[in-house]
Amino acid sequence: MTTLNDIKLPDNSPTVLLLDKHVDFIQKYGRSEDDYEFGMTDYLRMSGMYWGLTALELVNKLHCLPKNEVIEFIQKCQDAETGGISACIDHDPHLLHTLSAVQILCTYDRLDAIDVEGVVKYVASLQQPDGSFTGDKWGEVDTRFSFCAVATLTLLKRMDAIDVDKAIAFVESCKNFDGGFGSRPLSESHAGLVYCCIGFLSITGRLDIVDRDTLAWWLCERQLPSGGLNGRPEKLPDVCYSWWVLSSLTILGRLHWISSSALKTFILACQDTETGGFSDRPGDVADPYHTVFGLAALSLLGHNSIKPVNPTFCMPQYVIDRLELKPQMLQ
Ligand code: FPP
Ligand code: ZN
Repeated sequence: MTTLNDIKLPDNSPTVLLLDKHVDFIQKYGRSEDDYEFGMTDYLRMSGMYWGLTALELVNKLHCLPKNEVIEFIQKCQDAETGGISACIDHDPHLLHTLSAVQILCTYDRLDAIDVEGVVKYVASLQQPDGSFTGDKWGEVDTRFSFCAVATLTLLKRMDAIDVDKAIAFVESCKNFDGGFGSRPLSESHAGLVYCCIGFLSITGRLDIVDRDTLAWWLCERQLPSGGLNGRPEKLPDVCYSWWVLSSLTILGRLHWISSSALKTFILACQDTETGGFSDRPGDVADPYHTVFGLAALSLLGHNSIKPVNPTFCMPQYVIDRLELKPQMLQ
């Protein structure tokens, strides 16, 4: 028997999408006097830009951001020696921020702005003899980096640069008895890492490795009476897990195993009616991370004011179509 931790939605929770407020929130987030910085702390800035930019494009407002400044910033963050891209100018390159930069450039259709071969070389240099990936030169191995590696290389159409079979074998070795996946072999299942591994297997076309119904059952058990989803048993619901869980269920063809209407009510209740943006739970401070995942989850639920999102890449579906990519999805 596990304890159920949940929240009660406040009576005055918003029930409609506050679109204009969200656009305003992302546009203003961290805008300083003379620079577009996205106000993110330095070590998160590149991914922060991907979150804000994707949120805006999903509601058709990407033109509200200064495209040329964003592209120039990415160029300055590419390390000439390793080819990797960092969170911020003069930081060490990292696989997560490399993926975020490539995602932004794909959305802008401007991959020509960076040294693509440098990025390919960087990603390949992080693969380990057991097929796993480290996030950077410091050597932490995690399945989230396996996802970042194959997502980056697929967007660049350069999967030939790594040993894909070994990469798959490593992800398979992180599968647990409950159908879920963890960060490394024998690590507990975690919905964020389930997304990374299901996304990885969708990109590599190996969803046959998944115990589909066992995992889909574990995922739908993440829904709580408030309608929100948590990331592991006994944890509180959190808007970002609406994305990690729902995108995984979508890829597995099991979106209908949870209550869409209850989840929609929970996500809408996490909007900040004053500042705009979404927070993890009602009443907390809003941020671009929970805003993009709230909007993207609403897109998967079919909200008609939000563009279709691709569940594997968390990018607008039309961008994935333009690149002619077809990540595997089960019916
Ligand atoms: C929760 O982390 C989330 C994850 C483990 C998934 C992270 C996914 C990536 C890095 C891949 C890139 C993602 C996209 C959408 C392109 P946490 O450390 O906050 O977990 P906690 O909630 O347990 O603290
Ligand atoms: Zn969260």
